[in-house]
Formats: sequence, structure tokens, C-alpha cells
Amino acid sequence: MTNPLTLDEEQAAILEGLRAEHKFINPKYFYNHHGSKLFEQITELDEYYPTRTERKILQSRANDIAQLIEPNSLIVEPGAGSCKKIEYLLEALHPSVYVPQDVSAEFLQQSAQRLSKDYPWLDIVPVASDFSDPIEIPRRLQKLRKYAFYPGSTIGNFEPAHALNFLKQMRQLVGDTGGMIIGVDLHKDNETLHAAYNDKKGITAQFNLNTLSHINEILDSDFNISNFEHVALYNSEQQRIEMYLKSLKSGAYDVLGEKVSFEKDELIHTEHSYKYTVDGISRLANASGFTLEHSWLDEQELFSVNYLQSA
Ligand code: SAH
Ligand code: AVI
Repeated sequence: MTNPLTLDEEQAAILEGLRAEHKFINPKYFYNHHGSKLFEQITELDEYYPTRTERKILQSRANDIAQLIEPNSLIVEPGAGSCKKIEYLLEALHPSVYVPQDVSAEFLQQSAQRLSKDYPWLDIVPVASDFSDPIEIPRRLQKLRKYAFYPGSTIGNFEPAHALNFLKQMRQLVGDTGGMIIGVDLHKDNETLHAAYNDKKGITAQFNLNTLSHINEILDSDFNISNFEHVALYNSEQQRIEMYLKSLKSGAYDVLGEKVSFEKDELIHTEHSYKYTVDGISRLANASGFTLEHSWLDEQELFSVNYLQSA
């Protein structure tokens, strides 16, 4: 007889989601190395307006943002991914330390290396971890004034209660003298939103389906990606995009020696992407110990970059 497998915590958490009545996978599992590269492709799609819109706001407002930030500070960026957006701010803000953090460890390492070649004056301290846990700032850097940079509307991937907890955690990290620059996607018409998550080239579909390949690596499971389909829809009541993987046929898969069964058309929930109003951002800021000092919007009011000051 073979010994029963002991599940580590991560495997157990994924398996719990797959055995729930309404199946789900945490959106962080989009991001293995391949998933991070697919996300970079999404950012260049015609339909995916958030990245290019936020980029333009950061580029045109860097000097205004710099008026609110002390130079020679420490900037921590949760979910930094490619570390490209900080580049729009580095010259104007001139921090001494940049702490990019991400769950996609190898991709983060490569991004940080690329950045260090272009900014030899900057101390770059990458941290590979899950931003649901407090981000550890090395003790030698604790005395610096601290700011968080959280672009991309990654805040929208949290449920509202978790977004609040996350901002409280950031408030604790930056302390009484710091602040946070946060990019947040705004309410808009259904067509624009639907297109952004259902691109014609099918890159968002590949990104969503890649979750199952990633899960296969972690759980040693045998999900067959071609048995699933990408689904993304806009829920206008909840003001959120909902993403799912739909099982095209009934079947069962081996997961750590157990069977996980699917009915035809059964869904696995993979992501919510909440859209906010500036008022909503202000309320969230107040509830987490910040005040919304300034919001910069593009002309079409698609996206916002906001500065939250510790209250
Ligand atoms: N900030 C970048 C990337 C946004 S994509 C931009 O604006 O373009 C979201 C990023 O968050 C990815 O790089 C992903 O790997 C990271 N991420 C997602 N969930 C995470 C988690 N739980 N902990 C840490 N990083 C996470
Ligand atoms: C990272 N995050 C803000 C993206 C979003 O738009 O919610 C992830 C994404 N999902 C599908 N496309 C992009």
C-alpha cells in the first residue's frame, strides 16, 4: 500500500476551490511565467484600453504626481509584473529604493534585471510573494519615507471587502507620512468592457485557459485545456467583469489521486474585475485610513490615477 499524499497548503486551497459547489480558482494562478507573458500581450491589444490609457496619464502627469511625493523615498509596487509603469515616474519622483513585488517570481526577476540596467542609480529590491500577505520591507530600509504604487487596476481583482483589507495593509506599510499612487479602472459602457475581455485575437482566452496548465503543474492534475472555453461577461448590476472557464463536456480529472468531476457547461470562476467611480475610490480610501488627494483622468474618463495620502 502506498502512503496517502500530504497536501501542502497551496494545493489544498486550490483543490477546495475545485470541489466547491460553485468551482473557483484564485486569479493569481493566471500568472506563471507564460501567463505573465500573455498578460503583456493583453496590454498591447486594441480592445484592452486600460494599459495605454493609464500609461498616457502617468506620462503626462508625472510632474504633478512628483509634487506630492518626497524624493529619495522608497516605492513599493505590489503586482509589479513587467515593472514598466514605474518607468514613467522614476525620473520625476526620483526615489532611492524601488521594491517591485509579484507572485510570478521568475518573470519579476527578469523585469527587475532589465530595469536595473536602465536605472543604475536606483536600489532595486524585488520581493517574490503573495500580496495577500504583508510585504516585508528589509529593516535597513524602514527609515525611508514609503509610498505604494499600484497601477493597472489590480485592486479591481479583489472582492470589495478584500480591497479594503488590502488598502489597510498598504496604509500600515507606508505609515503616517506616506501615500499611495493607485490606478483604477472606471465605470463605462458595456460594449467597451465586453470587448476588452473578449478580444478578437483570443489572447484573453489563452490567458484564462493557461490557468489550467498552471494548476496542472502545481497539482500534478490532467486537465485537458481543449475541453474548456473562455467566458467573460459584464455584470452591470455589480459593476464587474466576470471571467469563467466553461467545461464543454462532462468528465472527470485526476487531481492528487482524487477525481474532480464536471458537468457539461459547468463553470469555474477565475476572476472578477470591478470597475469604480471616483466617489467609490474616495470612500474606499477613507475607510482604509487614506484621503483621496487627487485623481487624474484621461479625456474620455475611462481610467483614473489617484493619489491617496495617509490620513
Ligand atoms: N502592475 C502591472 C501588472 C498588472 S497584472 C501593470 O499594471 O501592468 C497583475 C499583476 O499582479 C501580475 O504581474 C501578477 O503576477 C500579480 N499578482 C496577481 N495576484 C497576485 C498576488 N496574489 N500576489 C502577488 N502578485 C500578484
Ligand atoms: C490585472 N488585472 C487588473 C487585469 C484586469 O483587467 O482585471 C487582468 C485581466 N484579466 C483579463 N484581462 C486582463
